[in-house]
Amino acid sequence: MNYIIRRMQDRDIPQALEIDREAFPTQWPHPTYASIKQELRNRLARYLVIAKPRELETPKQKTDNKSFWEWLIHLFDHDRFFGEELPPPPKEHIIGIAGFWVMVDEAHITTLAVRNAYRRQGIGERLLIAIVEMAAELKADVVTLEVRVSNKQAQALYNKYSFQIVGTRRAYYTDNGEDAILMTTDSLTSIAFQSHFQQLMQAHQMRWGEHYVNEASHVTLL
Ligand SMILES: CC(C)(COP(=O)(O)OP(=O)(O)OC[C@H]1O[C@@H](n2cnc3c(N)ncnc32)[C@H](O)[C@@H]1OP(=O)(O)O)[C@@H](O)C(=O)NCCC(=O)NCCS
Repeated sequence: MNYIIRRMQDRDIPQALEIDREAFPTQWPHPTYASIKQELRNRLARYLVIAKPRELETPKQKTDNKSFWEWLIHLFDHDRFFGEELPPPPKEHIIGIAGFWVMVDEAHITTLAVRNAYRRQGIGERLLIAIVEMAAELKADVVTLEVRVSNKQAQALYNKYSFQIVGTRRAYYTDNGEDAILMTTDSLTSIAFQSHFQQLMQAHQMRWGEHYVNEASHVTLL
């Protein structure tokens, strides 16, 4: 089954909010539908999702041989009078999200998160690869980010991609006053960065397979 990497759209926002809450439970304030919608219209921002097509569900078997209780429930069924209240379920399950801002020659990661149930399967790494590729297409020279001092998992991912610590922001996180570490890549066009990045991309493909379809590349700033 293919995972699709593509730009986030308005219809993805409810699932993006779920992932955000799960990944950053203590963050305050939480993003809202309106704040993400606004971000998606920000010409300096880029938001991506990794989506997994939902398995086709077998339609419920229709039966005319209703029991008395089924018949009674059917008689007072809300949907018989008012139609279905909920929109049909989305065809894709969003399992990871990422976002960054491009400012002058810097792509600054604003979010990167994978659903709990899908962690440690190379998905966060694949999103980071997509960010670096897009940042290079948008002519950013470096990719930067802030990460909590305590967030060793994320730091391990960034270390793997040779991000280096360039500073600390004291009490950056308002929920618990935790410091942020500021990290940056080398120049994306440097030979050292490129050869390491190409090796890691190949290793990722060998390890996790080639079932990613990237529909997000070849996009420029509006
Ligand atoms: C950080 C996060 C995005 C990683 O996503 P993931 O899909 O689980 O990570 P991957 O499976 O792609 O792992 C890639 C690399 O990340 C590092 N890593 C990820 N999870 C790790 C863990 N639990 N412990 C140690 N290293 C870890 C490893 O270096 C790993 O490479 P390896 O498999 O060769 O060891 C995910 O843990 C997450 O959503 N965390 C909560 C949100 C968050 O902290 N985001 C970062 C904000 S700056």
